[in-house]
Amino acid sequence: MSTPKPIDKISGVETTGHEWDGITELNKPLPQWWLWVLYACIVWAIGYWIVYPAWPGIHCYTRGLWGYSQRQTVNDSIVAAHAAQGKFYDAVAKSDLATIQKTPDLLTFTNAGGRIAFATNCASCHGRGAQGGIGYPNLSDDDWLWGGKLDDIAKTLTIGIRGPNPDTRTSQMPRFGLDKLLEPTQINAAAEYVLSLSNSSHDAEAAGRGKQLFADNCAACHGSDGKGKQDVGSPNLTDAIWLYGGRKEDIVRSIETGRGGVMPTWGGRLDPVTIKMLAVYVHSLGGGQ
Ligand code: HEC
Ligand code: HEC
Repeated sequence: MSTPKPIDKISGVETTGHEWDGITELNKPLPQWWLWVLYACIVWAIGYWIVYPAWPGIHCYTRGLWGYSQRQTVNDSIVAAHAAQGKFYDAVAKSDLATIQKTPDLLTFTNAGGRIAFATNCASCHGRGAQGGIGYPNLSDDDWLWGGKLDDIAKTLTIGIRGPNPDTRTSQMPRFGLDKLLEPTQINAAAEYVLSLSNSSHDAEAAGRGKQLFADNCAACHGSDGKGKQDVGSPNLTDAIWLYGGRKEDIVRSIETGRGGVMPTWGGRLDPVTIKMLAVYVHSLGGGQ
């Protein structure tokens, strides 16, 4: 049994009995509730160290009885997401493009995948909204160089245009100016005639001279009406939608140089399912035929 401790006269509180040069220490223990919380925390911490990864070592760390790992959790959810997508992947791989487009589930899946693949691979040239730019066609309108049906688009993607693939879509407008196939006055007249085809402002007299030049030099590819031919990727010259610009000097330059835009070949670079997703996505942008 402990002897009762002296009481401090001034505060009336029990002292610990320690005394230094007449100064005594009041006995003020920690409150019970506080101590119990502390003990509970210690017990909790020990339990935590045992079941969860806790202590770092030199080469690894204590992994804990439950083997919990955030990295594993992420890997598991990726595997689960792939498994969930797997059935759509397989269905897209097996279905033709028209079927994909008619099946709402698959259409949602391909459009979501196509949008991402487009942003990654295509937006650099065709623009984020596929609106195109000088030399890069707008893919969201219904003006197509090589065709706007699902199969046309898929084919263009797979083999490219004037690209490295041996089957690539190809055709080359002659370099009428650079190769001196036409005189500058003739090129001027042809350009005025091209302007007249889309009712743009033009010099009627020069355009009149250009009409015969067009029939002789241009109609084979652009058609006698100037509406273009998709089997040779020649633009429609009557719709006032211009790949290389519709100012007189742009048109003269097109005739002088023959242009010749290159679109990379995606077959082999992208897997067939991604190409299908892109074809369906591009077709759905508004211009699909
Ligand atoms: C390096 C630039 C570049 C990239 C990247 C690119 N394209 Fe193209 N694309 C072109 C050019 C240039 C043309 C036009 C070629 C021509 O003049 O005939 C074209 C044409 C097309 C056409 C044909 C349009 C028509 O009117 O017939 C489609 C469809 C197309 N691209 C889709 C895509 C898709 C989808 C991707 C992404 C996988 C892509 N392109 C990536 C440059 C590019
Ligand atoms: C061998 C086929 C061929 C012949 C012949 C040809 N073109 Fe073209 N033309 C094309 C192709 C293909 C393009 C598209 C080039 C590209 O996509 O880079 C084109 C593009 C153009 C463009 C640019 C259109 C735009 O939207 O910017 C103009 C203008 C044009 N041609 C005018 C003419 C005129 C005028 C002649 C005759 C003097 C002519 N072409 C003869 C195939 C031809």
